[in-house]
Amino acid sequence: MSEIKQSRGHWGSRLGFVLAATGSAIGLGNLWKFPYITYENGGGAFVLIYLFCILLIGIPIMLAELLLGKRTQSNPVGAFGVFRPEQPVWKLVGVLGVFTGFVILSYYSVIAGWTIEYSMKAVMGQFSTVAPEKAGEMFVAFLGNPYKQMLWHFVFMAMTVAIVIGGVSKGIERWSKILMPALIAIILFLTFQALRLDGARQAVVFIFNPDFSQLTSHSVLEALGHAFFTLSLGMGAMLTYGSYMEKKVDIVKAGVIVAVMDTVIAIMACLMMYPIIFTNKVEVKESIGIIFTSIPALLARLPFGNMLAVMFFLLVCFAALTSAISLLEVVVSWGVDELNWRRKPTTLLLASVVFAFGVPSALCNGTLPLFSAKFFPKGGGEWLNYLDAWDYLASNWFLPIGGFMTAVFVGWVLKKEEVIGEFPSKTHKVIYVVWRFLLKFLTPVGVLVVMLYKLGALNFIMAK
Ligand code: TRP
Repeated sequence: MSEIKQSRGHWGSRLGFVLAATGSAIGLGNLWKFPYITYENGGGAFVLIYLFCILLIGIPIMLAELLLGKRTQSNPVGAFGVFRPEQPVWKLVGVLGVFTGFVILSYYSVIAGWTIEYSMKAVMGQFSTVAPEKAGEMFVAFLGNPYKQMLWHFVFMAMTVAIVIGGVSKGIERWSKILMPALIAIILFLTFQALRLDGARQAVVFIFNPDFSQLTSHSVLEALGHAFFTLSLGMGAMLTYGSYMEKKVDIVKAGVIVAVMDTVIAIMACLMMYPIIFTNKVEVKESIGIIFTSIPALLARLPFGNMLAVMFFLLVCFAALTSAISLLEVVVSWGVDELNWRRKPTTLLLASVVFAFGVPSALCNGTLPLFSAKFFPKGGGEWLNYLDAWDYLASNWFLPIGGFMTAVFVGWVLKKEEVIGEFPSKTHKVIYVVWRFLLKFLTPVGVLVVMLYKLGALNFIMAK
């Protein structure tokens, strides 16, 4: 056992951890999902609720995961086992986590692949000749093209593998140190450009001026669910990254920095996209496809528009890549620690399985009828295709269940003596009390309410 631990990788520095973990957190969730759900839920009030969810539920679970990883120096399955070897059921939480990472990566790679195609389209100036209304058709045609779908799914997986195979410090950390500064520079530049547009004022008001009349109970639940996804919580990604931390690193400080960075980038994504939309006074109907339809077509209309569009898709692609490596790392660390496999073959083998599992996601927009439109009944007469079905199951069920169990484990099962070591100073002791309280009560109750609501059990209270 100790031999395995010796051979585990470690971050070269605290900055290395922070960049890698921020890279995991910042992804399609920030650049694609957050702007469109904020748009659909009416702006400011939703943003405010979201901030509370990050603060009261996201950060406590983030600290719980980092603590589990750091203390056990183990992958999600091993971590629960190290703390409670006599209660093997807890290992199932880790097993669910590894499985969830596998599932999310399988379709995340497909969507991330789209950003590579769109970077190419932008380089070739294809958006400057497309009317915004036609951009939707272009997107649909691309979705239905099996060769391109497979190609980019493969290319993106291959890039992820190429980084993860290098290991913790020589692969993930090294690439995070290149990709994250690039990402921050691009988003700062694009946001600055967008804020000079006429629609900027309206965008700022929309984002920061809460109008609570717009808010429904559904918005609150959506905000909570998204807090999990965006901070990469509930499946052991932060746990795994925490397991590569040196003993001296302060998990509270590190965790808070990651959460703050993630939130800032999500808000910047809105500050970048809304001015473009408001300036052009377009009605965004298909808000889900916003970054592949309205945004590129409208960007191309600005001065140096093609260049801006290229930057935009590179930004999304980099963000997706640093998230995908964390998803693959969870699966790989499980193979390496639990099955005692060597890192390189493990990475290749497991990534191939993930790739294969994701093939129907790449082909579920018409190419394979069985996996397309009516693949999975969501209930209420709604149907999902293969990709949306796995996203629905993972984001709405697997992650909250994983987060709930992690909160219960660290909040209730672990004893004070087992965790207090991570809270050395006087300030830490105060934080410890608040954290433990949130983790015991508010966090699990909040997550439970969301899940019961989704099962329809609370419809009688929340009729709105
Ligand atoms: N947080 C990433 C995003 O916002 C996605 C992601 C990476 C993730 N690793 C995760 C989500 C682990 C849940 C769990 O796009």
